[in-house]
Amino acid sequence: MRILTALIFSAIWLFMPACKQSTADVKSSGGIQIPAPDSVDHHSYAKPDEARVDHLQLDLRVDFKEEILEGVASYTIVHNNAREIIFDTKDLTIIEVRIGQEGEPHSFKMGSADDLMGQSLTIPLKPETDIVTIHYKTQPTSEALQWLSPEQSRQKTPFLYTQSQAMLARTWLPCQDSPGIRFTYDARVRVPEGLMAVMSAANPTMVSNTGDYFFTMEQPIPAYLMAMAVGNLEYRPYGRMAGIYAQPDVLLSAAWEFEDTEKMIEVASALFGPYRWERFDILVLPPSFPYGGMENPRLTFVTPTVIAGDRSLTALIAHELAHSWSGNLVTNATWNDFWLNEGFTVYLERRIMEMVYSSAWSRMEEELGYQDLLKTLKEKGQDHSDTRLKGNLDNRNPDEGISSIAYEKGYLFLRTMEEMYGRNAVDNILNAWFRKKAFESATTEEFVTFLKGILMDGGSGIGVDEWVYGTGLPSNAFKSRSEQFAQLDEVLKKLESDKNVAGIDTTGWSALEWMYFLRQLPENADLAALEQRFNLSASGNAEYKAIWFEQCLQKGFIQPIQKPLTEFLTQVGRRKFLTPLYKGMIQAKQLDTAWDIYAKARPGYHSISRKAIDEIFADNGKKIS
Ligand code: BES
Ligand code: ZN
Repeated sequence: MRILTALIFSAIWLFMPACKQSTADVKSSGGIQIPAPDSVDHHSYAKPDEARVDHLQLDLRVDFKEEILEGVASYTIVHNNAREIIFDTKDLTIIEVRIGQEGEPHSFKMGSADDLMGQSLTIPLKPETDIVTIHYKTQPTSEALQWLSPEQSRQKTPFLYTQSQAMLARTWLPCQDSPGIRFTYDARVRVPEGLMAVMSAANPTMVSNTGDYFFTMEQPIPAYLMAMAVGNLEYRPYGRMAGIYAQPDVLLSAAWEFEDTEKMIEVASALFGPYRWERFDILVLPPSFPYGGMENPRLTFVTPTVIAGDRSLTALIAHELAHSWSGNLVTNATWNDFWLNEGFTVYLERRIMEMVYSSAWSRMEEELGYQDLLKTLKEKGQDHSDTRLKGNLDNRNPDEGISSIAYEKGYLFLRTMEEMYGRNAVDNILNAWFRKKAFESATTEEFVTFLKGILMDGGSGIGVDEWVYGTGLPSNAFKSRSEQFAQLDEVLKKLESDKNVAGIDTTGWSALEWMYFLRQLPENADLAALEQRFNLSASGNAEYKAIWFEQCLQKGFIQPIQKPLTEFLTQVGRRKFLTPLYKGMIQAKQLDTAWDIYAKARPGYHSISRKAIDEIFADNGKKIS
């Protein structure tokens, strides 16, 4: 398979012009439908070709009592005699608009409200207008924001955080909310005394006496990377590059868990080019955070559910760090190009894990990822158009694009390339790509053109078009096998035939081995004996505890796990865990119990998780009133 010599680099790629393509009709290449490139972002009202933002100066007041932000967003803009500039907003009250250095009051127009897109805010421009200033307020229901009461944050103080990706930045800030539009920012944020505010920017390390904070982000970023959190936070630095922000009760355990962070930055920079964001700090959020992690530049947000006590879930840190190249430095132009962010990032993540830990470790992660992919392909069907890397999310919520297709099929594309053309080739391609497109956005078509221009065979060997535009999994996809997991297959086979839980030797199993083992549990497994011997419902590892609960629901071992499951669902708000567990309960004919648990837990979930779970219940005839 290995065609090590197939790749000779021409010097041309260094000087390749930015490949802006004209809109063409769908063309066909060997039976694969290649859609016209759409650098037009259908998820934003902004028209950046006419007028776009360049710099934001933000002044925010955080009001915990009313659960609103009140702000003045002053944008420096770029245009060439444009008649107007268009912003995205959702659930924002626009108080007034001013233009120019002098801040002359000015007219504006709000478009009609759309459930997904929100409302456009159109501001007429004069030829000389270079600044527009928007005075606004959020509403308590603004979707990006989660306001936690002191009780919910389990501190004596409240907590607030934002989650902007994919298109929720517009719910806390009027902005041109498209991944293809970048701007720098500085901000002043006023919070109640005693609390600390942090942003995706240069951050304070100590609490300010006055509750007044100042931030700067000197690198241009898209709006979905705007982020803020306010709460009882403390900081603990590792060294020159990284550190941890967390509520005091988790600070020490988090700092221990993520101690390899600086090593990861070192390894990643050696592999993929210089780290361009100066610092990489980590903010540990309360357990209601709806995602595992979010790559907010200079300050990655993470769920506390990865603090397992044994550093077994640090791939998440490697993942969010990897976005400092794939995603934050070179950004998907639209959400249809999401795989450029996530597929690349999973590849970088596993390369980092291999270097910092071992190749045996990253092979296990690779195989778990492969299982996820096969499951998604089976659920959707091999021919489903959502199994293409290049997505089509127009008129849909980009959240629907968060499936293992972008992540794991994207990963496998690069991994298969490595197998065919050699690791060196892939490293050179990635380095050249990140250098060429630094602080820019990229469409799938640009990457494909770039790649075909570099590969000596023009990409025909691997079948670039089939990989990117075809459905299902190409037949040449790399298939890995972890030796550790192969050994577990023996254990599982034995368990299936003799049902003897006492005979399982789990010495030296890592969390990944537990995950593999639990996913593969035989139909006839003695769950009571497993629970009795390994206390799985009380495990401190949320990843395999969630798998265990799913298995229990599937296999009808329900009463004994009722209490720990209820506790888990009420304490954790991470969507990836919640949706399969609520679905599992419903499938196990526990609809009413699930509904009762949800009624209690729902106020503690972020709107992103609430939305997904509301839908599950609505499909089963339960509507939130
Ligand atoms: N950027 C994503 C999270 C995201 C994607 C939020 C799309 C909103 C829309 C983040 O980098 C991510 O992929 N998180 C994963 C963890 C990762 C280890 C696969 C998650 O949250 O599970
Ligand atoms: Zn990611």
